[in-house]
Amino acid sequence: MTKTDVLIIGSGIAALSTAYRLARYNINVTVVTKGGKKDSNSALAQGGISVALSQEDNWRLHYRDTLMAGCYLNDEKAVERLVSLAPRTLLDFMGAGMDFDRNKKGELLFGREAAHSLNRVIHAGGDATGLKAMEQLIKNTDNNEHITFRLYEPALDLIVKDGRCYGALTRDRDGVIHTYYAGSTVIASGGIGGLYPATTNDKTITGDSIAIAYRAGCKLKNLEFVQFHPTMLTIEGHAYGLVSEAVRGAGALLINDKGERIMEGVHPMKELAPRDVVAREVYAHYLKGEKIYLNISAISDFKQKFPTVSGICESHGVDLSENLIPVAPGAHFHMGGIKATSEGRTDIKGLYAVGEAACTGVHGANRLASNSLLEGLVFGSLTADYIIDNPLPVQEADYAMSKAVAENLPTKDEIRRKMMEFVGIVRHRSETDSIIKWLDSFIPQGEKNFVSLDYNKTDNEQAEIYNMLTAGRLIAVAAAERKDSIGAHCMVE
Ligand code: SIN
Repeated sequence: MTKTDVLIIGSGIAALSTAYRLARYNINVTVVTKGGKKDSNSALAQGGISVALSQEDNWRLHYRDTLMAGCYLNDEKAVERLVSLAPRTLLDFMGAGMDFDRNKKGELLFGREAAHSLNRVIHAGGDATGLKAMEQLIKNTDNNEHITFRLYEPALDLIVKDGRCYGALTRDRDGVIHTYYAGSTVIASGGIGGLYPATTNDKTITGDSIAIAYRAGCKLKNLEFVQFHPTMLTIEGHAYGLVSEAVRGAGALLINDKGERIMEGVHPMKELAPRDVVAREVYAHYLKGEKIYLNISAISDFKQKFPTVSGICESHGVDLSENLIPVAPGAHFHMGGIKATSEGRTDIKGLYAVGEAACTGVHGANRLASNSLLEGLVFGSLTADYIIDNPLPVQEADYAMSKAVAENLPTKDEIRRKMMEFVGIVRHRSETDSIIKWLDSFIPQGEKNFVSLDYNKTDNEQAEIYNMLTAGRLIAVAAAERKDSIGAHCMVE
C-alpha cells in the first residue's frame, strides 16, 4: 500500500503538466501509467498547439473558430478559459525549456490547420510537436524528488466511498495488485481510439478512463462524439499512422483515383473544412471502393517540413517522389469523457479528470485542430492550481473486491469491427440497439450493469477487454440517445 498527496493516472501532456506544477509546490505526486513514459497520444501528436500569439491574432478569434468547429455545442466559459489562458501558458512552457519552430529572425512560425481562420498553430520539430513537448515534460519531471513514476501498471479501479475518491487499485506487469491512497486522484489516461480498427492513438488507449470512472459512479458526458481524422496513411485497408492536417494546411489536396478534388463543392473551406466534414467525405468515397490520396505536389521540401509523416510513409513503401499519399479516416479523439470543470473537478470529491479523458465541453461536437495538446497544458495547470488551493487529507478506505468474473470475452478485433460498423463515422438509427445487445451479452451473469471484476481471477488483458466493452457500450448508448446529427455524430436512417 502506498500513500501519496496526489495520484495521477496516465502519462501524457495533461498528466505530466499537472504533475510538474504540483511538484513545484512541493506536493508529492505518484504517476501510474499503463505503458512507458512516451506511450501516449500526446507523444504521437503531429499537428501542433493552437495559440493566439501572432501579431494579427487574438484569443477572441481563436474562441470563435473553436465554437464554429464545435458546432456551438461547446461550453463557452470553458472555451474562453482555454483560449484566453493559452498565450500565457505557452509562454510559461517556453520558460520551462520548451522551444517551438522559428524563422531565421527567431520569431515563432505559425502554421494553418482545418477550420482555423488564420495561421495559429505552433510546431516543434516540424510535425513532431507532441513528441518534443513530451520529451521536455519528461525532462522536467524526471528525477524530481516530488514525483514517482510507476510504469506498466494500469489502474484497475478507483477506491470510492460515499461520494469521495480515496485513490485507486493498480496491477503491475508481474501481476501484483497495488493499493494507492491519495488526497486527490487525477484521471489523465486519454480517450478511446483503440475501440476502433483504424486509429491514430497509441496502443495503450482503450477506453480505460471512462470505464473506470463509470464503475466508480462518476458522471460522463457527450460520449457519442468520437472524432475521426480524415487522413491516416492507409494501404490495402491497413492504417499505418497519421498524416497530419498540417499537410493540408501547407497545400496538399485530397483527390480520388481519377485525380479529381473530392472536397470541391462540399464545403467552402475545401480541404480545410472542419475535420468531421472532411472525414465523412473521405469515408464516403472510400466506401464506394475509390482510392483517396493526398496530393502533396504543391509542398516544397516536404521531407524537411514533415519528417515524421515522411518516415511513416517511407517505412511503408510509399515513394514520396510520386507526390501521392493513400489515405483513409481513423478514430482520433474523443470529445466526450468524464464530466469535469476546467479545473478538472468531477462530481466525486477528490477525483479530477483532465485532457482527453475529461469532457469539459470545450470541444463541443467536434474539436478544433491542435486544441488538444493545448487543453492538456492549460487545464492541467488549472487542475494543479485547484488541488494546491484545496488539498484533501490522504485517508484509507475499504475497497470491496467484486465477485464478478467475465467469461467468454470477445476478441479486441471483434469489438473494434462492431464499433466501426455501428458507432463509427456514420451511425444508423435502426442499428445502434444491436451493438448494445451484443455488448450486453458479455456482462457477467446476474449483473445488471458493467460492474467491477474480481481482479484476482482476471488478468490485465481481460480487464482491458472488459474496459473496451464497457466504454463501447457507453458510447453506443449515448449515440442511440442523440437522434439528430451534429458535428462528429452523424446519424442517418
Ligand atoms: C493532426 O496533426 O492532423 C492532428 C492535430 C490534432 O488532432 O489537433
